[in-house]
Amino acid sequence: MARYCIETYGCQMNVADSELLSGILEARGWEPARGVEGADLVIFNTCSVRERAAQRVIGRVQSVAARKRRNPGLRLVVAGCLPQHLGEDLAARLPEVDLFIGPDAYRTLPDLLEPQMGEARLALERDRTETYEGIEPIRQEGIHAWISIMRGCDRFCTYCAVPFGRGRERSVPADRVLETATRAAAEGYVVVTLLGQAVTAYQDETCDFACLLGRLASTPGLRQIRFLAPHPGDFSPRLLEVMAAHPIVSRHLHLPVQSGSNRILEVMRRGYTREAYLELIREARHRLPGVGITTDILVGFPGETEAEYQETVDLMEQVRFDSAFLFAYSPRARTYAARFLADDVPDEEKKRRLAAVIELQEAHSRERFGRIVGEVRRVLVEGPAKESPRLGFGRCEDFKPVVIDPGEGGEALRPGSEVKVRIMSATSHTLRGRRQP
Ligand code: SAH
Ligand code: SF4
Ligand code: F3S
Repeated sequence: MARYCIETYGCQMNVADSELLSGILEARGWEPARGVEGADLVIFNTCSVRERAAQRVIGRVQSVAARKRRNPGLRLVVAGCLPQHLGEDLAARLPEVDLFIGPDAYRTLPDLLEPQMGEARLALERDRTETYEGIEPIRQEGIHAWISIMRGCDRFCTYCAVPFGRGRERSVPADRVLETATRAAAEGYVVVTLLGQAVTAYQDETCDFACLLGRLASTPGLRQIRFLAPHPGDFSPRLLEVMAAHPIVSRHLHLPVQSGSNRILEVMRRGYTREAYLELIREARHRLPGVGITTDILVGFPGETEAEYQETVDLMEQVRFDSAFLFAYSPRARTYAARFLADDVPDEEKKRRLAAVIELQEAHSRERFGRIVGEVRRVLVEGPAKESPRLGFGRCEDFKPVVIDPGEGGEALRPGSEVKVRIMSATSHTLRGRRQP
């Protein structure tokens, strides 16, 4: 029996796509291998969003490709956003790879792996309507089901490679999202995370994103609904209302701000101002008490002056995010910024700005996590903690991670169950607490 393994890079959408790829392959008789060692086929599901990460994957592919000398039957596939974005340029750099396949072409994968199809090396056809209807993903064990409710992105922020890797925006019909969530819950995936690059742009014939959330809220067996990522530019007041009305929706908002400077936001083409963003945060905290707010920030964008960078620092000080992903800008082929704007913030300066915002965020995270110490929180158990099987791991309603001590003689912590936990201590990344009766 032929065995495959998938290495996944990039965002949750790729994690969901790898589950789809597993479904597609296993429906055709492929079996999973434990790792690269036992595999006849290795798929790298790649990300194109930042230069450094792209280079790292290319290095990894090259190192696995060296195995081909000992095992000439081994086949390598590079899937996902990187080949779709870079096409021939990537193929020329990786001569050992058998197939490059883009995110709209996954249905064709098993056929392309048949021996007589050995000639085709690039499968990068775009399909503006592909949402993989009818394909059953093979989900990882656990309590989380990832459900892509949209594919692609039409926003074309000027720094971003995603639209070139993922193509145009399309939404999965609401009825199908509901069916998928219902089935997932029945199989024990009690947390569903709705995925899209800007889920707030969701629109099917009858339903926008707020409507979809409202409809999902009554899914039998479901304990929590999460979503990634809303876009601050089209976040409707109605969405906050729906969240407030349905406690099943996680009290967590990941709202990528990117910059605190109105001029930079404009050149990035983000579609909101600093003031509108701050207003949204105020409103969210008012409507959803205890909501966790996280973000993405990009420093060193072309032309970013020290003063403009300081506006980002100042915005961070005002909001005090619970946590944040912080990045230094790197130009990506084909984007507006790479084509028309000089990458003129020196590397050293980008590093300095990045290090400073990382340090600032650490302090804010410590403060935000520390505030909860002493309180009792509801925690959804995910499974055992990494550090010891005696301890559990779970998340608060605002998505903060908690290591749970079940207490002496306490019954085992069941994944998917909800327990009360008194928070005893905190670092900037994790809470620790003891289960309460
Ligand atoms: N759809 C999300 C972002 C997805 S990409 C949104 O609209 O906010 C994830 C993060 O990668 C972005 O939020 C941004 O901070 C970062 N990123 C994107 N392009 C980048 C680039 N060219 N260089 C460095 N970081 C980048
Ligand atoms: Fe990229 Fe902007 Fe789309 Fe997010 S919204 S994926 S940053 S183009
Ligand atoms: Fe990367 Fe593609 Fe996601 S470029 S961030 S894996 S959509």
